[in-house]
Amino acid sequence: MQFSSKMLSLVAAISFAFASAASAQEQVVRIGHVSATSGPIAHLGKDMENGARMAIDELNAKGVTIGGKKAKFELLAEDDAGDPRQGTAAAQKLVDAKVNGVIGHQNSGTSIPASKIYHDAGIPQISQAATNPKYTQQGFKTAFRVVANDGQLGGTLGRYAAEKLGAKKVAVIDDRTAYGQGVAQEFIKGVNAKGVEVVSQQYTHDKATDFNAILTTIKSKKPDVVFYGGMDAVAGPMLRQMKALGINAKFMGGDGICSEALARLAGDATGDGQVVCAEAGGVEEAQKKGMDDFRAAFKKKFGAEVQQYSPYAYDAVMLMVEAMKKADSAEPAKYLPELAKINYKGVSGNIAFDSKGDIKEGTLTLYTYKGGKRVQMSVVR
Ligand code: ALA
Repeated sequence: MQFSSKMLSLVAAISFAFASAASAQEQVVRIGHVSATSGPIAHLGKDMENGARMAIDELNAKGVTIGGKKAKFELLAEDDAGDPRQGTAAAQKLVDAKVNGVIGHQNSGTSIPASKIYHDAGIPQISQAATNPKYTQQGFKTAFRVVANDGQLGGTLGRYAAEKLGAKKVAVIDDRTAYGQGVAQEFIKGVNAKGVEVVSQQYTHDKATDFNAILTTIKSKKPDVVFYGGMDAVAGPMLRQMKALGINAKFMGGDGICSEALARLAGDATGDGQVVCAEAGGVEEAQKKGMDDFRAAFKKKFGAEVQQYSPYAYDAVMLMVEAMKKADSAEPAKYLPELAKINYKGVSGNIAFDSKGDIKEGTLTLYTYKGGKRVQMSVVR
């Protein structure tokens, strides 16, 4: 039988109607992710972006229904290179794209200015890594974080320097970013409370490579500990130069330096137990299996070890979607109240937020390096 052109257009019309009915039952949910995927800390930014991607892929594979409609999740991954200006540009781009929520940013220096843009647009933001207290102290109901803050990091590391390392004199360097400066200040408060003297305070920047002058000054003061507020890309070469100058002090830092990559970036200068740093989260024994399984699945999918915060980015996506399910809506204004009162069991531990958007009862994990590998020492509250 021959199809007449009339019959063909009828067939086309019927298929169109079916397709429209199907799409009426489906909704696209866009989740933004912002980190530094270019520049010196791209290895850390890529790690967390992959964590978010893993969550999105799992959600799409499993099939999630929100408010009676099948959700199709899309990840809009933006690079802000860890730069405050690029951070606000990325935030504006995501707001313009009408994302349903944002996981980001990686750095305090980008998360803080971006948070005003998300707040003004009413879009929920969960930072996977920003630790500066100010991020959640601005009164923005849209800002959350799934990590502990610099008060906890710097305070704990300061106590550790005094009590466990027996430090009497410390030197402090920071990179002048919101994060580096903040965590260094908190470390100083922590050691001061224990009567430890800060014998030298020096400054660098987040793309510096030569520390000879400041390290020479520090060497003359003979500190027991050198604390660095900044990221691993700078800490690695700094450790090499400390070794070359014969500075034997312990080297401490917050989550910014506490990556798998630090050992590679520092050559053999991480020594055995020479470096002590803390991640702004961590799981205790009962939840260790979940984290180990995540690490194995991550390695299988991306062919890379977890650097640091990929499990946190994964959890942030998952709990944002959990809040959407509870609200029966992916609309920011509707699911935001559910997000604020969520109680979610993630791979990085239990996540619930206080009234400011900080994680309740956040943990820290202390690490050192041995034989070129990051080694966990303890999980503390
Ligand atoms: N915790 C680091 C920051 O806040 C990564 O910038």
